[in-house]
Amino acid sequence: MLRIGMLTSGGDCQALNAAMRGVVKGLANSKQEIEVYGFMNGYKGLIYGDYRLLSKSEFSGILTKGGTILGSSRQPFKLMRVPDENGLDKVEAMKQTYYKLNLGCLVILGGNGTQKTANLLREEGLNVIHLPKTIDNDIYGTDVTFGFQSAINIATDAIDCIHTTAASHNRVFIVEVMGHKVGWLTLHAGIAGGADIILLPEIPYDIKKVAEAIEHRTQAGKGFTILAVAEGAISKEDAKLSKKELKKKREKSKYPSISYEIAAEIQAATGTEVRVTVPGHTQRGGSPTPYDRVLCTRLGAAAAQAILDKDFGNMVAMVNGETKRVPLESVAGKLKAVDPDSQIIKEIKQIGISFGD
Ligand code: F6P
Repeated sequence: MLRIGMLTSGGDCQALNAAMRGVVKGLANSKQEIEVYGFMNGYKGLIYGDYRLLSKSEFSGILTKGGTILGSSRQPFKLMRVPDENGLDKVEAMKQTYYKLNLGCLVILGGNGTQKTANLLREEGLNVIHLPKTIDNDIYGTDVTFGFQSAINIATDAIDCIHTTAASHNRVFIVEVMGHKVGWLTLHAGIAGGADIILLPEIPYDIKKVAEAIEHRTQAGKGFTILAVAEGAISKEDAKLSKKELKKKREKSKYPSISYEIAAEIQAATGTEVRVTVPGHTQRGGSPTPYDRVLCTRLGAAAAQAILDKDFGNMVAMVNGETKRVPLESVAGKLKAVDPDSQIIKEIKQIGISFGD
């Protein structure tokens, strides 16, 4: 009997169910008898013993279903070693649940924080396999994370819709794109949506340069300008501040997010009307794109094979179009950010898109 546990942790995204389906279908074709326990709401379920035995049929018909059938929650890595309000040692509690159920392996689907905790559990002696999920695409050691392509579609749709209204009204529009501390999603949706200016956390902007780019378009007879702004975009001045100083400054800001601050600055500098659109969590919602369905089916099948091979302690990643087992210890805690000197940035500058730098 092979008994595995599965959990989805952190912010959800579109293809979590597709990935879990891939794992279970991949295992079902082996000769071994298999039991799958699902932990509810991420690590919370593992800590507090909230789980249930899942039937094979629960993994049927979920390839296209967004969200996660197991639920998810954020359990910050930095608090894992901190006892809960009742003094419970969370790491010990997770180990106890694992041993009580006599699990052979834990399949953990999540982003960077989730991966760090997966690595912690590996260090504590548990058999773990991590699958890289996040719309942010910021996991080091994999070419792509699942959810990313689906989120690009949604953010691109938002920019496409803004295009028609921006053109009618001769306005400047900002579409604020998710991505936490990195700009992958903004970069790709910005390019795909034909944004004129793209502001990323990795390339701090100068608001004068942003205003110049808008005025340049106006002088060229273009009545409107669209900016794709990452939620983590940062000005050159703010980039010089320490983490603490920046946090303090942002807390005092009257703007709900960076896009509103940029909008006010553009309005002041150019006299043009600016509107802000924030698609927010819609970017994590709905059905996964065909790309993500294929990606997750492959990652899931590869994870199943790793389980059958008893090869644990890895992230199952996509590297140069092939699935690959990447040791967690070599990637946990690292962030994959956009390289400002990369080819894609140079190419996009080449066609005249401004990064405000
Ligand atoms: O990591 C995925 C993500 O959607 C980020 O892009 C965003 O910054 C964050 O999660 C939002 O988190 P929450 O759903 O907790 O508000």
